[in-house]
Amino acid sequence: MSTSTSLTIPVLIFLANMTPLGVLASSPPLLPTPPMGFNNWARFMCDLNETLFTQTADTMSANGLLAAGYNWINLDDCWMTKTRTPNGSLQWNSTLFPHGIPWLGEYVKAQGFRFGIYEDAGNLTCGGYPGSLGHELQDAQTFASWGIEYLKLDGCNVFPAGTKGRKTLQDEYKHLYGLWHDILTGLEQPMIFSESAPAYFANNPTLSDWYTVMSWVPEYGDLARHSTDILVYAGNGSAWASVMENYEFNTRLARYQRPGYYNDPDFLIADHPGLSLDEKRSQFALWASFGAPLIISAYVPDLTSDELAYLLHAGLIEIDQDGMVQQATLAGRDGVVDVLTRSLEGGDRVVTVLNRGDEKEKRRVSVEVLGLERDCVYEAVGVWDGTEVKVREFVEVEVASHATEVYRLRVPKDCREVIPTGIVFNTASGKCLTGNEHGKVTFEACKGEETQGWQAHTSGQLRPLARLDRCLSSDGKSLSLESCGGEDHQKWSYGMSGNLKNLKTGRCLTEGTGVDKCGVELDKQVFGLPSGVQVKDKE
Ligand code: GLA
Repeated sequence: MSTSTSLTIPVLIFLANMTPLGVLASSPPLLPTPPMGFNNWARFMCDLNETLFTQTADTMSANGLLAAGYNWINLDDCWMTKTRTPNGSLQWNSTLFPHGIPWLGEYVKAQGFRFGIYEDAGNLTCGGYPGSLGHELQDAQTFASWGIEYLKLDGCNVFPAGTKGRKTLQDEYKHLYGLWHDILTGLEQPMIFSESAPAYFANNPTLSDWYTVMSWVPEYGDLARHSTDILVYAGNGSAWASVMENYEFNTRLARYQRPGYYNDPDFLIADHPGLSLDEKRSQFALWASFGAPLIISAYVPDLTSDELAYLLHAGLIEIDQDGMVQQATLAGRDGVVDVLTRSLEGGDRVVTVLNRGDEKEKRRVSVEVLGLERDCVYEAVGVWDGTEVKVREFVEVEVASHATEVYRLRVPKDCREVIPTGIVFNTASGKCLTGNEHGKVTFEACKGEETQGWQAHTSGQLRPLARLDRCLSSDGKSLSLESCGGEDHQKWSYGMSGNLKNLKTGRCLTEGTGVDKCGVELDKQVFGLPSGVQVKDKE
């Protein structure tokens, strides 16, 4: 593994990763930063019509949302009729859209918006409307002729074709999304492609297929809905639990994100009756820290001034839209509080502190945990309220229950060498790699201790914060912590697969046995590492 803070790294990594699958189409990327906008689904589901969209667009133009960057107006499911026209074209429901979809596109574009739609790769959409299976080119051309610029392609009602190369469900998704990739990038005006394929594998008993699907979505599209639907307005259950679930899924996927491809943890449910204002603000702050798509699903004309104020927060939008699009990763996690960090263009560091517990919490986050040096003075700006404090050793944070605080650390020029630091966790079990004092290495519940914070050096060494002179080592049979000496058995490379491979033995870090032969996307061998670690394509 190698690490770096250099601004050019993410680009270089992915140039090196280019495959014949046409990633060149995204240089420069269609979406240099994550999309922001509106979609009706989580708020209105199938209860949509033309007026909802014209009213929403009018309001967003007037209340500052459009000017703040929310420039996509996207239709979700149920906009069409249950049958195709005699020539096989999709048609809009003219009771719901009396002026037609192209007219609506013109209407929103005249205000400065861009326009997106929903379809499904299978036989039927999730709502039971005609899917695109067998009509891919025709439907793409229809959308293009309607002025559509963004397609959310869902994955309900997809089944294995049973033919060569398409025997498994996963093969079929890959085939269909690959086909759509080719069609959409081949259009005169390439369309933004939002892929829902991974969501159909996120809740399997093992995550192997999910990881495999995730390995191709960044090559085919611009963003991917990777997990469960966020709770809809009328849904039963805890909206906070739903936000936390999607947050959790997103933490597992940082290695995939890059300029032009975004992990999508689903909509901002800004007027959900099940969320407190702190919880809504948390969702926003976490999504922004991730550099995630910010797609509001709410009744925009009725947003309260508090809701609007956080959605318009310039400091958080700036973080979300930062050109490095580095996804914040877990610097620390202790069962109640999560600390995430990432770099921004120009060298600033983001510190995001989420309190999942029911009481107010206080924490001291040391600069080492954030990957920074001790001998510097950092200006920490509280992003929500703009307060500034000077930081030498730690950021002192107080976070209300279910709230999220965000700091932006201004890093002096000669202190910008970040050592990617944070937990190394198994993204299936959630367990933390733990380097115990006596040299024993285990996987344990994350407790926020220094035995579980790892510095990932450019050399490939992994050193626990508790003993920075020790390196994670392996003789091919087991793991240990040894005095760092620079030998290859103390170095590891990190791959898109999520595997950590020992440079000397070629064997992989494995929860349970410590090390083992490297398999393909095995639950016990896939790990999340801190952002900034160089990710190899094949490893
Ligand atoms: C799926 C998607 C949702 C929404 C609905 C529409 O559940 O994940 O975001 O598009 O389908 O039916």
